[in-house]
Amino acid sequence: MSRKPIIAANWKMHKGPAEAVEFIEEFDNLIGDSSPVDIVLAPAFVSLPAAKQALVNSDLVQLASQNCHFESHGAFTGEISIGMLQEIGVDYVIIGHSERRSIFGEDDGLINQKAQALHAASVKPIVCIGETLDERDNDQVESVLRRQLTDGLKGLDAANMLETVIAYEPVWAIGTGRTASPEQAQDAHRFTREVIGELFGEDVAARIRIQYGGSVKPGNTAELMSQPDVDGALVGGASLDPVSFSEICKNAG
Ligand code: PGA
Repeated sequence: MSRKPIIAANWKMHKGPAEAVEFIEEFDNLIGDSSPVDIVLAPAFVSLPAAKQALVNSDLVQLASQNCHFESHGAFTGEISIGMLQEIGVDYVIIGHSERRSIFGEDDGLINQKAQALHAASVKPIVCIGETLDERDNDQVESVLRRQLTDGLKGLDAANMLETVIAYEPVWAIGTGRTASPEQAQDAHRFTREVIGELFGEDVAARIRIQYGGSVKPGNTAELMSQPDVDGALVGGASLDPVSFSEICKNAG
């Protein structure tokens, strides 16, 4: 089963509208007219409209937001609804990033509400999972991943899952310069695919794309991507520079 790789840039709280446009113009020149991988940019909320505008002539790059609220509207000060994101033209929404979990207290139940709301609106979720260093040291990688998948994806069906991307991001590898070894990544990805098979069937397991995230750089992309169950990358720090992100996209192809 061949799965088209998907490389996503998670800009976190970097790049306002002007810098987002500057990146896109430079990236556009570097990447050319075609790519063997799907490319997704996730700017901050306020930079999404400018990014969409800058991408008006691009068939190559899709847009994601880094978060959403699960309700369609209401008294949720500071939150953004999926409908608002659709109005801008967002294709994907990242949910369950470890920074949202650890800094903003999001749990699997909340992530599940977002996943269900995204599917109801036909917007594709990128669902992040991953263990902390403590959990890895205590031999809990598989139990943590199983819990995050089972609780975070509850109520979704096979059709929903074919529109979903999973991002395995070991928390200890995010922003630390310490990448999981290709073997560690492959073990976690193989296990993730196995659990998805149990929950949603073998066809979904064979087709769903699982990204690796955590200190991905141009120099380690090809080796990570050569693992049989690694279908892409979710890139933080190294996605802020157009040259480095374009090299990651090329090396992943
Ligand atoms: P990093 O971040 O590439 O800077 O480690 C990845 C992420 O948090 O998605």
